[in-house]
Amino acid sequence: MVRLLSAAAPPPSSPRGSGASPTGAPPSAPTTPTTAAAAAAALAAPPPRLPPSAVAALRAAALSPSGGVGGGGLVRASVLGAAGLTVYDPGYTNTASATSTITYIDGGRGILRYRGYPIEQLAARSHFLEAAYLLSYGELPTAAQGAAFSSRVAAAAGAGLPANVLAVVAALPRGVHPMSALVTGLAALGGVHAETNPALAGPHVYDTPAAQDVQLFRVLAAMPLLAAAIYRHARGRPPVSPRPYDPAIHGTAGGAGAAGGGRPFSYTGLFLDLLERRSEGSPSAVAHPVVVRALDTLLLLHADHELNCSTATVRQLASSGVDATTAVAGAAAALYGPLHGGATEAVLGMLGRLAAAGGVAAIPDFLATVKRGEVKLMGFGHRVYRQYDPRATLVRRLAYEVFEAVAAGSDGSDSGGGGGSGGGGGAGLVAIAVALEKAALADDYFASRRLYPNVDFYTGVIYQALGLDAGMYTVLFAIGRSAGWMAHWREFLADPEARIARPRQWYVGAPERAYVDVHARGRGGGGGPAPAVKNPAVLSKL
Ligand code: CMC
Repeated sequence: MVRLLSAAAPPPSSPRGSGASPTGAPPSAPTTPTTAAAAAAALAAPPPRLPPSAVAALRAAALSPSGGVGGGGLVRASVLGAAGLTVYDPGYTNTASATSTITYIDGGRGILRYRGYPIEQLAARSHFLEAAYLLSYGELPTAAQGAAFSSRVAAAAGAGLPANVLAVVAALPRGVHPMSALVTGLAALGGVHAETNPALAGPHVYDTPAAQDVQLFRVLAAMPLLAAAIYRHARGRPPVSPRPYDPAIHGTAGGAGAAGGGRPFSYTGLFLDLLERRSEGSPSAVAHPVVVRALDTLLLLHADHELNCSTATVRQLASSGVDATTAVAGAAAALYGPLHGGATEAVLGMLGRLAAAGGVAAIPDFLATVKRGEVKLMGFGHRVYRQYDPRATLVRRLAYEVFEAVAAGSDGSDSGGGGGSGGGGGAGLVAIAVALEKAALADDYFASRRLYPNVDFYTGVIYQALGLDAGMYTVLFAIGRSAGWMAHWREFLADPEARIARPRQWYVGAPERAYVDVHARGRGGGGGPAPAVKNPAVLSKL
């Protein structure tokens, strides 16, 4: 819930409109400490409604009269700062930190568009690399532009990963979570390119579009290569190098007619070959077109979702001037958590436990535990959608297509898993997922909170049906989202209002006190644990 904190004195506004004082003093935080108890009491009280005159004054000061984050006008924080007020907004539920032209979401109506194009049309007719182009450059590519873009990605992928990055992955324990390995591998990749690291090569290394493109292609190429290396490492298999363009492997993904035809390279085909080819010299792993297409569509559906936790992380890291790949490593770390991209894996765990407990019959008891606040219904709820997530509708449809292909045993893959051998239990789990969704939507707990399935609810069952390890699900999410991360990175660099990200806090700790020598501190504690600082009930909400 967003609250306003009153400051002791209104700060003078700066020429940049930030509310910072000319001396550089912080803008509008309270100048006297508040005790934790007083803060808790203030937060527990229902927030008063602003009087109509105050609302009118804020609306008059708004940048836009409507359509803001919370559906209302957008007010610059500096306007509040000039009035001695700071916004208190844990989780940034109602705080816009950037202007963006990339992705539009209307959470109330279940609308998602990339650069104005409805996600449903893109999922049906476009493909991942075309969406990546659209996100970064703002327009759909012509046939020639699309082909050139694909060729750049193919060339960057064809160069392979630096040997020392692969060595870093190989040095990890085989049982490491694939997302830990991805974060590590991306951080290592950031480290090997000193020539494009602002910390080493100076602040202007990304000044030109061409220099930004180098980063874009490096990241887009590295993601499937790293993901495949990580997947193979878990199986004790060394990575294989990308094959030169082969229509059998690289030519089957994407929607019919995407990019105006003549698409020379399938990102998903490349990835599946790298995953499942037996060894360097073996024939390429060729997956069923339905599988290739399904994975490509999932990458596209995950490609961007405006300022979610991981994308906000990219912008936050870029704001400090760190190199692009390290910013992406940080974003991948943010994605890993079960409330964000890690939910895909968590949903599968939840469905698996339900299957073990009796399947559909176990749903009522499970929902009762959710309603008691003991566990969350994973794959449900969203910060922005108060409606069915439009991606969830598309993913559910896709799940049935994949199950049909897998059940028909016609996947045509020579692979042992990721290429489409089928995980067997997928159809059973999707039946549980469908029943779980139905039961939750009919339940007042979820209806009253407007909790609906999100993109992660059905994604995992598809990956499971394809035989992918659960830990890889978030890695696949990261491959798709890397397109959005790079688009936001580029947009951030071009933003004249961009500044280092630095949220404020409300200090509720001890007031100034004198240091006490250790011999004068009493005898309590006995080396035991420090006192708890947080109620476990609060932690379970995170
Ligand atoms: N199961 C049970 N209760 C829930 C759930 C859920 N999945 N999601 C929200 N709630 C409750 C929440 O406890 C709160 O109840 P109350 O008002 O009684 O305190 C109410 O609904 C409002 O939720 P919120 O805390 O305001 O939600 P949020 O916007 O802070 O969090 C979320 C959004 C996605 C983290 C959360 O819905 C969640 O934890 N969902 C499960 C994890 C998940 O599926 N994450 C994937 C999100 S979509 C893809 C992505 O971003 O990666």
